[in-house]
Amino acid sequence: MSEENTHNNTSLKTVEWKNNKVVMIDQTKLPNQLVFVEFEDYNQVADAIRNLVVRGAPAIGVSGAFGLALAVLQSQAATKEKLISDMEKARKILFETRPTAINLEWGLNKIMNIAKSGDSVEEIKKLVIFEAKKMADDDIETNKIIGKNGSVLFDNNDTIMTHCNAGALATVGYGTALGVIRATRESGKNIKVIATETRPVQQGSRLTVFELKHDGFDVSLIPDTAVGYSMANGLVDKVIVGADRIVKTGHVFNKIGTYQVATMAKQHGIPFYVAAPLSTFDMKSDAKDIVIEMRKGSEVTGIGNKKTAPDGTNVINPAFDMTPPELISGIITEKGVVQPPYEESIKKLFEAN
Ligand code: MRU
Repeated sequence: MSEENTHNNTSLKTVEWKNNKVVMIDQTKLPNQLVFVEFEDYNQVADAIRNLVVRGAPAIGVSGAFGLALAVLQSQAATKEKLISDMEKARKILFETRPTAINLEWGLNKIMNIAKSGDSVEEIKKLVIFEAKKMADDDIETNKIIGKNGSVLFDNNDTIMTHCNAGALATVGYGTALGVIRATRESGKNIKVIATETRPVQQGSRLTVFELKHDGFDVSLIPDTAVGYSMANGLVDKVIVGADRIVKTGHVFNKIGTYQVATMAKQHGIPFYVAAPLSTFDMKSDAKDIVIEMRKGSEVTGIGNKKTAPDGTNVINPAFDMTPPELISGIITEKGVVQPPYEESIKKLFEAN
């Protein structure tokens, strides 16, 4: 583990494969310290996903894939069958860490399918590591295309609100929602950003503001409770967020509070966009069947180590909520922007790909 005091994350990756180890930025330490953690055991990767050392749908998808790459290196299997069975065990542990973001399941399934296509233990090990690394590289490329596709929706001098962190830190690099913000600036437009704090664990203030300030954006932080004020007072032109899962009807599952932001945007006639790769779409499930992760109460009864509620307080702490399609102006993907009616446009998007 290494530690630095200076922040220079342009060339840093949120999660990376290096010398047969998984290296991650420990996001629980940001913005105060930039700390890297290294793992050689897939169980450690599972803990890191569970404890938000790494978070954000695409980043946990790639982390799951790297977890399986560690599992093949850890396995002593002498036959393909035994290696696949060791991988299935690791897959289950990694899969059970967080239920809502479908990218985790997507990343794990992709690697399991690749593994099954190999003939020998040696071939499977090579294939799995190669594919997991490729998944990480592809993530950055995909985000750059999403960014370009979305940048046309934003105008010069726009102030854009975002919620949670759908940035470089939620992906391998560049980001989805923040990728669109980056690409909009790269296209020569002058923009400002308003980031919500995103209680309870403050991905907005700790991570979004950190990465946008680092890259020299004009970003203002607001408490979650100031979304209505900001919109009612004309401070916001557009909203963009990421997603953990989008079902075929266009219902979007994302960080808790997204639904409130979208409802408020509708009330004020402000366009509300979602940016996500195709790997975030769940074409099989219905919105009512999606599991919303419930997290521990201590995230709400305190901030960091400081208690902000009496001992014994009952807490309801859902990590995600669902935004219905009628509140969404467009969903930006690497294959283009889909618009209402979503059931039709999403179906077409997948038929074409
Ligand atoms: O609990 P988190 O921090 O993993 O939640 C992250 C989000 O809700 C993001 O908006 C989403 O994963 C999209 S990241 C590109």
